[in-house]
Amino acid sequence: MRLIETVVDMKAACRAATHAGEKLGLVPTMGALHEGHMSLVRASKAGCDVTAVSIFVNPLQFGPSEDFEKYPRTFDRDSAMLRDSGVDLLFLPSVAEMYPASARTYIDVEALSSKLDGGSRPGHFRGVATVVCKLFEIVRPDRAFFGQKDAAQVALLRKMARDLNMDVEIIVCPIVREADGLAMSSRNAYLSPEQRKQALVLCRLLQRVKAAVEAGETSAAKLAEAGVGEIAREPGAKLDYFAIVDPDTLEPVEKVVPRTLVAVAAWVGTTRLIDNMVL
Ligand code: PAJ
Repeated sequence: MRLIETVVDMKAACRAATHAGEKLGLVPTMGALHEGHMSLVRASKAGCDVTAVSIFVNPLQFGPSEDFEKYPRTFDRDSAMLRDSGVDLLFLPSVAEMYPASARTYIDVEALSSKLDGGSRPGHFRGVATVVCKLFEIVRPDRAFFGQKDAAQVALLRKMARDLNMDVEIIVCPIVREADGLAMSSRNAYLSPEQRKQALVLCRLLQRVKAAVEAGETSAAKLAEAGVGEIAREPGAKLDYFAIVDPDTLEPVEKVVPRTLVAVAAWVGTTRLIDNMVL
């Protein structure tokens, strides 16, 4: 595995691979890797000749009062995991390398950038779209791998790639969960043992909504009642949003149909967790 810290070197390594006719896969991450991230790496390894992973805690996607400073940074462990899984290129740029002080260009996917997480985290999706656009231009991957865990991020990046005519195939991989159902997240590391139990309310809520849909309920308002009620029964958790939306436009729907996205975000203590399911 080659460890690369500069844009110039990363471009050269990626161009060398594609010019040799190799299919190049990119897995963008912020590190603190877990099985969710590794499932994306495995999908890239399975479908591409060369796999590049980026680890960059992107300051642009964190609000001023968010956890940029304390976001877990576990580089030695991450790089060992990536090396063991056969990753070819590990891109580890510094903040100054990605955002020179003179940088003034941002990507704003209008309409989507203020939906779901974008509503509670102003500026978040502008930061995500900008960094992923830059990574796509640096790496120019044939395929880029993202997790369904961040469903709104997937909708945003698909729209960006379409609108900007990017030659990249966006592949979405299923949510990887702990044995008890909690969706894996780098932020789970913030939870105390007590909060770790309280956090299970997110997947419990989704299970409840799923059971109601399976029992024939199609009204989004009724399903929302059931979902929000489940959160209200867990005093350790505070709802941020609960949304039943079209998975591409993220617009609310009145009746659920196959592919409808049910998404939830909640605070457990000072940790904000998200989860979702596609019907
Ligand atoms: P990060 O939170 O590190 O996640 C990197 C990728 O791993 C994302 O595509 C995310 O959806 C996926 N992922 C995280 N947890 C997962 C799980 N439990 N199952 C499946 N996939 C999971 O998302 C980001 O970083 C950033 O916004 C980024 C795209 C790197 C831009 O900075």
